[in-house]
Amino acid sequence: MRDGQDNPARPAPGVRLCAVDEIADPGSKGFRFRVDNRLFAGFVVRHGDTLSGFIDQCPHAGWPLGYDDRYLTRTGEHILCAGHGALFTLDGEGVTVPCVGERLTAWPVEVKDGEVFTA
Ligand code: FES
Repeated sequence: MRDGQDNPARPAPGVRLCAVDEIADPGSKGFRFRVDNRLFAGFVVRHGDTLSGFIDQCPHAGWPLGYDDRYLTRTGEHILCAGHGALFTLDGEGVTVPCVGERLTAWPVEVKDGEVFTA
């Protein structure tokens, strides 16, 4: 099951996640929110001035893609799923097996005054 809007642990819009400078460029940062026994997991990818958020769930087997803020390949050119090695573009499109043509689920974020918030 996709970890969507019906998850009570998903933070509402406007929740501060971190400062932009806390994410390497290029880099990524994972976030976890808990409510009772429910968990919401998301991550944010930074590439220059572009920040993109995704739900931390691979379309292949539903596993988390990364850990410890590590979601990108060493070169920072792709998002890497630690499960079975699928690569995604930095905007979430699967480009290698087993996820060619699949997409990561967006988790909208926005930047205000150098801070990253849920949107
Ligand atoms: S769980 Fe991501 S590639 Fe299999």
